[in-house]
Amino acid sequence: MCGIIGYIGIDHVEKYLIEGLKKMEYRGYDSAGICVKDDYLDVVKKSGGIANLEKALLDRKFSGNTGIGHTRWATHGAPNDLNAHPHLSFQSDIAVVHNGIIENYATLKRFLLEKGVRFSSQTDSEVLAHLIESFYTGNLEEAVSKALQNVDGTYGLAVLHRHENKIIAARKGSPLILGIGDSMMMVASDAVPLLDHTNKVIYLEDNDLAVLTRNQYDIMKINGRKVRREIEEIQWNISQIEKRGFKHFMLKEIYEQPEAMRNTLRGRIKGDTIKLSVNFDAEKLNRIVITACGTSWHSALIGKYFMEEILQLPVEVDYASEFRYRTTALAKDDLFIVISQSGETADTLAALRKAKSLGCQTLGIVNVVGSSIARETESGIYLHAGPEIGVASTKAFLCQITSLMLLALAIQQAKGKTISSRMINELEILPEKIQEIIANEKQLRVLAYRLQNATNFLYLGRGVNFPVALEGALKLKEISTIHAEGYPAAEMKHGPIALIDASMPVVFIAPEGKILTKILSNMEEVKARQGQILTITDSQNPKLQELSDHIFMVPKTLEIFTPFLTTVPLQILAYYIADMKGINVDKPRNLAKSVTVE
Ligand code: G6P
Repeated sequence: MCGIIGYIGIDHVEKYLIEGLKKMEYRGYDSAGICVKDDYLDVVKKSGGIANLEKALLDRKFSGNTGIGHTRWATHGAPNDLNAHPHLSFQSDIAVVHNGIIENYATLKRFLLEKGVRFSSQTDSEVLAHLIESFYTGNLEEAVSKALQNVDGTYGLAVLHRHENKIIAARKGSPLILGIGDSMMMVASDAVPLLDHTNKVIYLEDNDLAVLTRNQYDIMKINGRKVRREIEEIQWNISQIEKRGFKHFMLKEIYEQPEAMRNTLRGRIKGDTIKLSVNFDAEKLNRIVITACGTSWHSALIGKYFMEEILQLPVEVDYASEFRYRTTALAKDDLFIVISQSGETADTLAALRKAKSLGCQTLGIVNVVGSSIARETESGIYLHAGPEIGVASTKAFLCQITSLMLLALAIQQAKGKTISSRMINELEILPEKIQEIIANEKQLRVLAYRLQNATNFLYLGRGVNFPVALEGALKLKEISTIHAEGYPAAEMKHGPIALIDASMPVVFIAPEGKILTKILSNMEEVKARQGQILTITDSQNPKLQELSDHIFMVPKTLEIFTPFLTTVPLQILAYYIADMKGINVDKPRNLAKSVTVE
């Protein structure tokens, strides 16, 4: 998730670009760069945040008043100066900033290499600059249009040509907004950087291509057909829309989950086959060991259920902090998986290094591209969840379990077994079902209101929903400071049952499935002690309905996929309880987003 900006007008362009990038730094801070059009295309780009770019610009003077800029959240290629945007074409006639993923970049790159083009970065985005140049015959919008008709993937794009005083912007899948001013036009990934200069905006739609000159804009479809788009007046103030209208980043990230999950899946399912760029010997695989910390450890536990069921292989899950000091043996045919949103958690990194020293194959499931864990594992799966800013992890968790499911299916396929097309179809429609849950959030707000004064919560689940109980309890305690425990439902009678009374909400995660009847017995045990039951379920079972004081229904899915749906209401419930208690949900007490100390 990167941020792009463009300005064409009568003022010096660099201040518009830099101020705009600063407002979009939340979208990525791996590198930043600008290109100012003068007699030639002058590019300055630096790894790290905007502050690094500003330092590099200190002794630079520009006279141009057309330019584009970019702040990067790396997907393809490490976050260094070379991979920073803008990217120049081979002849340096064209500059491109891009937000999105070019899925067929490898094919396009081969085609361009054969034509003699030389690449200077490892990014998928650079192919766009060369491809547009290869189609250029004197009209930039025509060249962009032809190039984009050959591209698979997503993009928010701004393009300059050395000899044309215009900006071409195009979008598919990544947001892009035009700002309409007096003697100036702007384009950006977000409305925030436009608002300092104009509140008149046009939201481009997918497959739109806009031609911006100082006093005019033209919008057409990628194929050249002209379209009309309404100018809208933005009423918000800047502080509201930095979180895109959400009160907290955590809530925004909960809402982003359907899209984040689609991004994890994108390009990785082709018909009935899974395509992952992982390199370990799946055929000989004997055992899988997964380590992680915090929420990532909960996704590891869900991964264990996925893999045991799909692969019938032994899977062990350990806290990274325990694994690193335990006496253990790993064999060369074992696969050691580390899961980390940040890719920098100290214990997880140490566990990975230990596993490597024991000689087994390693794989990372990581969100932050170019992070230490991503660099040190032999292969990996990037989540493509976009930056997660809220300290309590939400969308990364969902994308981690998506990756684990893809991995389980990919190993099954590598072992020569057929993947069930029913599972693939269901996996692909889960984002829509998550959307349905989010659309029902009002019901969870009402529940949060009723339960906010409880001082202890118990979360119970079984099977693949036992780790969901742990995650639900962790979300609540992290952000609301209410004490909460997660337990396997049947274990309740070995201890936590002593705590149950009328003031204790007990959250059951109880979807339809082979152990629902057993959970109903656990519910009876809670009811017999006057506990209040809140059930997250997809079941119409009359007994379950009768025993529950409150019910939140999730859409139906395959039993193995239920964690994708049962987790989301627990995130929303925790969020609203914490918010009603007046807590700053994004920065919970004593916690940090990335724990780089032991
Ligand atoms: C911290 C964060 C958690 C996160 C954990 C592991 O505790 O607050 O949200 O789950 O670290 O982080 P990682 O980046 O390795 O997933």
